[in-house]
Amino acid sequence: MARIVVIGSLNMDLVVQVPRIPKPGETVLGADDLHMIPGGKGANQAYGSARLGADVAMIGRAGDDSFGEQLITNLKKACVDTHHITRDSNASTGVALIVVEEGGQNSIVVSSGANGHVSPLDISRAEAVIQSVNLLLLQLEIPLPAVIKAAQLAQHHGIKVVLNPAPAQLLPEELLSLIDILIPNETEASLLSGCDVGTDDEIKQAADKLRQFGVKTVIMTRGSRGSSLITENEIVHFPAFPVESVDTTAAGDAFVSGFAVAFAEGKSFPEAVRYGNAAGALASTKLGAQPSMPDRDALDSILQTV
Ligand code: RIB
Repeated sequence: MARIVVIGSLNMDLVVQVPRIPKPGETVLGADDLHMIPGGKGANQAYGSARLGADVAMIGRAGDDSFGEQLITNLKKACVDTHHITRDSNASTGVALIVVEEGGQNSIVVSSGANGHVSPLDISRAEAVIQSVNLLLLQLEIPLPAVIKAAQLAQHHGIKVVLNPAPAQLLPEELLSLIDILIPNETEASLLSGCDVGTDDEIKQAADKLRQFGVKTVIMTRGSRGSSLITENEIVHFPAFPVESVDTTAAGDAFVSGFAVAFAEGKSFPEAVRYGNAAGALASTKLGAQPSMPDRDALDSILQTV
């Protein structure tokens, strides 16, 4: 069985569907319903991995408030071990303001709240959990010192480290050198490598640059164009599963979950990337982050279609 620890953020997503994303300074009238949906990149990846059958523990922080309560309850429903989520009485639970336009594109603003208080000490306290799994999943919605500490501990214990470098930010070599598998989207890959990623040659160049920093394997997600696995010798493109997209929020998180579960189960890189593509595609067919994460049956069915 895949055993995964996710260290990252928990947010309550406040979601409004709009005819189109407003331009700066513009007001757009959206749908009457405001949806409150469990989200946060870390929690989404924990929830998504558990839905696919992995044994998952999450490390992070939520406020001592009702959003925190709801987010933890939702993770528990998917059987995520939440014992290492600290309730922080000095901060509110993270919140994401999300507008989703027709066709599924979105725009997101995050107020980090308690996520911004995750510290290297929180991570050290959970060392026993980190060393008990076969994969560590990280993103960038908690402070960098905590991310680096987690990667250091995992490497020390021989645990594979997967980093989904979202939201995009420049990263020190100190962190990149600890990453076994980096899963950026095109924007993140370009920012981190300083290269364009439009053509195969450019993608190869960007991945080579990231490998020079110490990253072992790069998998780039490319939205409706699927994803690409870039090894030292070649680029392999995996087309997206054709689906009608309603909301792309957390499609990237679903990809990471699908990939991580398959990889931790011992599947090959190409096979695990296909699992990621399938999970990402399914997640984009439903509104919201965690409610859109597919279960194993749904994933197995779509995998058989192509
Ligand atoms: O990746 C999607 C997530 O980004 C949302 O759930 C939102 O909380 C933001 O963190």
